[in-house]
Amino acid sequence: MKKALIAALIVLTATVAFAGGSKDSGGGQPRIGVAIYKFDDTFMSTVRNAISDAAAGKASAEIVDSQNAQPTQNDQVDNFISKGAKALAINPVDRTAATVIISKAKAANIPVVFFNREPLEADMQSWDKVYYVGAKAEDSGTYQGQIIVDYWKANPAADKNGDGVIQYIMLKGEPGHQDAELRTQYSIQAVKDAGLKVELLAEDTAMWDRPKAVDKMDAFWARFGDKIEVVFCNNDDMALGVIESLRKVGFFSGGKFLPVVGVDATAPALAALAEGTLLGTVLNDGKNQGKATFDLAYAAATGASVSGAGWPLDRGKYVWVPYQKVTKENYKQFQ
Ligand code: GAL
Ligand code: CA
Repeated sequence: MKKALIAALIVLTATVAFAGGSKDSGGGQPRIGVAIYKFDDTFMSTVRNAISDAAAGKASAEIVDSQNAQPTQNDQVDNFISKGAKALAINPVDRTAATVIISKAKAANIPVVFFNREPLEADMQSWDKVYYVGAKAEDSGTYQGQIIVDYWKANPAADKNGDGVIQYIMLKGEPGHQDAELRTQYSIQAVKDAGLKVELLAEDTAMWDRPKAVDKMDAFWARFGDKIEVVFCNNDDMALGVIESLRKVGFFSGGKFLPVVGVDATAPALAALAEGTLLGTVLNDGKNQGKATFDLAYAAATGASVSGAGWPLDRGKYVWVPYQKVTKENYKQFQ
């Protein structure tokens, strides 16, 4: 009796181990667990679609919405691991929470590719099966600054009070996000590097979000009105919110214009460039970021060499997808 029970247990355990640890999801394709910080984010939708397109026919990629909650994402990671994922692709809610995710992945020996929200250097170095796909946030800031410099030099009337100084508003994405911090810093640095003077009227966060940006800009306008000469936004959704707010006070009709710049080159932003409301943006290449994320995860999941996945690896771990400056001169090529 006891022996039979033990024998049955052994069979059961072996079956569970096989199901849990089997290389594929049944159809011969490796399972890859993908978590997006929140689905309700315009740019991340592009990345998400690119991942799912790249996975088609190659891997069983389960893509989940972490709903902007790190505890939810941590549970999702546990779930992927228990379902036998062979690699993880994680867009962290809180990039400093990568520590927790890495320790879970490491314990199960499952490689992890982070994307869009860059873990801290120490976390990246904590295990050799950790990778990151993103873009050099500094460059996007620099391009924004250059767009403003070109506009300012070509349009003397942009200096509304004629004091030779750019009075500006800075609308930031999520504080602590590398893209928010570095775009904020490098956009202004580029303006200064061009020899122009700046004066910050106000800086605030609208959390990458268009409706929040409308509210913030309404308040800035009420406070500063025509003192505002330029508005820098860390992404396009916020730039579009700013434009929406400015329209309410008469801008973008009858020749009334205010230079607003964003980042991402989303479809609505390109439409705004076409109609002449948005001055410029920077292509954040979500399609290639999604593709690179998948390619790395797939290579890792199948035991292939990640460095041979078709993307140059910086320090063996990082893939940087280049940004591109987008203005009314070249926007058509991004539509
Ligand atoms: C940035 C992007 C923002 C937002 C953010 C989410 O790279 O420019 O629009 O999507 O990522 O982490
Ligand atoms: Ca001025």
